Amino acid sequence: MDANGNPNHIAIIMDGNGRWAQSRGLPRAAGHQAGFKLTRDIVESCGRRQIGALTLFAFSSENWRRPESEVGWLMDLFLRALKSEVGKLKANNVLMRFIGERSAFSDKLQQEMTRAENETAGNTGLKLTIAINYGGRWDIVNAARALAADVQRGDLTIDDIDEERFTNAISIPDCGEPDLFIRTGGEKRISNYLLWHLAYTELYFTDVLWPDFNDQELDVAIDFFNGRQRRFGKTSEQVTR
Ligand code: IPE
Ligand code: IPE
Ligand code: MG
Repeated sequence: MDANGNPNHIAIIMDGNGRWAQSRGLPRAAGHQAGFKLTRDIVESCGRRQIGALTLFAFSSENWRRPESEVGWLMDLFLRALKSEVGKLKANNVLMRFIGERSAFSDKLQQEMTRAENETAGNTGLKLTIAINYGGRWDIVNAARALAADVQRGDLTIDDIDEERFTNAISIPDCGEPDLFIRTGGEKRISNYLLWHLAYTELYFTDVLWPDFNDQELDVAIDFFNGRQRRFGKTSEQVTR
């Protein structure tokens, strides 16, 4: 949370692109294209609002199960989006990076991802993280492996492993836990997103489909957040004192 009570880190599951397109008689790809345009607006809006970190779920480790044509279209969109957006993100002081298993992507896409990260690495504004071929379980297993390797090398003992070390071994330790989680599209589930990180995050679900989400809808979500009392296990009286 920042000094004004606004969320410092927002994590979003951008869901509902397919249904948005289908309800208009359009192919699902048109929904992803519309969703991409909206994503651009929301990134800008978070920059304007001086949100510290925005983490977006673009493609889950389970999304490979979709029809090959849709997966192919999404990969094309990611590549096009990176090529067209990185310059502007760089100019807007956005720090961009990716979490997830990237070895599954084409060489070209991996190169563009690395380029985006390198070109924006020195930026000090919004930390924009794109979760792509990401799974919360994958992240936890990776962290466990990294810590186990440290123990095997003798750099760490088992007793050294605590929640703080685990947090540091998992993706995006520098963003802090998300304060506010938003899922558009009506489903009330986490779909293997940031499982470790969401332990105390305020969860906001809206029926609005991602391409219809906008700045006003973001206001509604932030208002929801500001109306929550975050107790972290304490009593209400302890928190208001
Ligand atoms: C989210 O929208 C985008 C991705 C998973 C890439 P969906 O494609 O899941 O949209 P719905 O849920 O089918 O409407
Ligand atoms: C979650 O949405 C993943 C992304 C938005 C990238 P899905 O649409 O894939 O989730 P499920 O399958 O409905 O749980
Ligand atoms: Mg969906």
